[in-house]
This record gives sequence, C-alpha cells and structure tokens, in this order.
Amino acid sequence: MSRPKVVITAKLPDAVEHKAASLFDVTLNPTDTLLTAAQLLDAARTADALLPNVTDKITADILGASGRRIKIVANYGVGFNNVDIAAAKANGVVVTNTPDVLTDETADTAIALLLMAARRLPSGERMLRAGQWHGWRPTQHLGTKVTGKTLGIIGLGRIGRAVAKRAHDGFGMRVLYFDPPVPMGEAKAYGAEARATVEDVLRESDFISLHAPAMPETRHMINAKTLALMPRHAILVNSARGDLVDEAALVDALKAGTIAGAGLDVFEQEPKVHPGLLALDNVVLLPHLGSASTETRVAMGERALANLEAFFAGDPPRDRVA
Ligand code: DGY
Repeated sequence: MSRPKVVITAKLPDAVEHKAASLFDVTLNPTDTLLTAAQLLDAARTADALLPNVTDKITADILGASGRRIKIVANYGVGFNNVDIAAAKANGVVVTNTPDVLTDETADTAIALLLMAARRLPSGERMLRAGQWHGWRPTQHLGTKVTGKTLGIIGLGRIGRAVAKRAHDGFGMRVLYFDPPVPMGEAKAYGAEARATVEDVLRESDFISLHAPAMPETRHMINAKTLALMPRHAILVNSARGDLVDEAALVDALKAGTIAGAGLDVFEQEPKVHPGLLALDNVVLLPHLGSASTETRVAMGERALANLEAFFAGDPPRDRVA
C-alpha cells in the first residue's frame, strides 16, 4: 500500500523530519522560507495531509482544494486559529494541534516577559552595549518590584495555570483570573482567585498576562476602553495571540501613560510589528518565541506526527480539535 503523502510547510528539527520521512511520503521545506498562499494551495492539491505551522493560513480554498484532497491538517502548535475550522468541518478534514508539550516553555516566556518589562532589563542591556553605562548608581534604570504583587490571568487553561503556579509559588504573587468554565476548587490549587469579568481582573491587577485563545469573542479584548481600566502602573503581557490586543490602542496607552509597560511575544499581523511599538522603550518585543526550546520544538513535531500516524492507522488522533 502506498504511504500517505504529507506536506510539511516549514523547516522542522532534523529529528522530526527524519521520523516523518520514515513514516510517510513527505515533502519538506528545506529553504525555511514560509510558503505563499499559492504554494500552500498547490501543496494541498498533491497531499493527503498538511503539517503546517501556526502562521500558515489554512483557508477554505486550501481545505476544499481539488486534486488528491487533504484529509487531515496536523497543526504544529497548540493554537489553531490559522485554520478555518468551519471549512475543515464542511470538507470533512480532521484538524489536530500539539497541546501539553509546550505549556512550560510558553509559561516561562510569559514570566520572562513580565520580569523583563517590570525590571526594564532589555533597555538596561541596550544601554550597556551602547557604552552608556558609567558605573553603578542608586537611582539608575529603576524598574518595579514583582514579588508579592497581583497578577491577573485572562484564560486559566494549561498555560494560564502554569503561569499562575510560577507566579504564586515562585514570586509569592496574588493571582486573579477570569475564565468562567474553570471550577473554583481546581483554580485554588494554583493559588488563583476567580473574578466575574475581565474588567474586574484588569482593575485589580498590577500585571496582566493573556492566555485566551484567538476567536471572534476574544479579538481586541484589550482595547482603549479596557486599557483605561488598568492601574497606571500596570504592565500587560501577551504570549497568546496578537489578535487579543488592539495594537494601535496599546501604543496610545503606552505613550499616554495609561499603563506603564507591556511585554509582547505575539502580534496582530506577524511578522509585521506596529511601528508605534517599535518606537517605544516601555514595551519588550519578542519574535513569537513562546515555545522555542529545542526539546519542545522536537516534542511538538513528534506530537503532530503521532496524530498523523493515528489518523492513517484508522484510530482517533489524540489531539483532534475538529
Ligand atoms: C502555538 O503553539 O500556538 C504557539 O504560538 C507556537 O508554539
């Protein structure tokens, strides 16, 4: 029997590519240049399965493309807002993601952004490298203390909980959260107290960390109105999805001092970054590095391959989301 044809759209760690080649008839992307929409469509016409990354837009056109007809999209990432889920369902295409294996890395990145922004570490490093450090001074480059402060978490799923645990156990922080489906008893294990609305969390928190999925209901949940509710000393961290934040409103708030700072790993139009953000010193910017450790990127690949293997063996893939 011929092996399923799988198109892997981006360069993956070598170990994952080797394993993929041992299991399937794979097409790799050795250039590490992201495929264009037209290339993705061509790929879909020749494949049984796609293994795309989280910035490939898997549109209705791709999911319904004639030709060999793809049967499964094994997304390389926990987020799957790059896939048109309604079109996948309409075309009978199965969609899977890669949860769990990136929880720790992404939570670590959120905490790193919080510390970097609170203590102004990146601008301190820039000052030193620019030869502008002329010795230790009591009032030089002061940030704000993190330990013992209040962290508000929007979305207490796997990653939100891992952030809550780090903040509570590691930094003695009081943790608040908004996530109506999370049972209270469960959240207490992470030292987190529920609030009835996003607005309540924003009003009471010194730091806010976003961990909600991107969907129509969460788009621009951080906007001019909600930013105005946050204390002026507040710092916003986003390691979830760029769509959650109205970047133009955030730029205005950071300029006007409505909030004190931000730490962002994700953006509305990746890889474009709002020019207003690039011009500001009170925002820390990372290039979507949340899950970027070698171990985790290998584990994500293995998880995506395991989903494909199960599917083509006729078993239910473990991480099916559609
Ligand atoms: C994801 O998995 O959704 C991240 O954004 C990339 O690791």
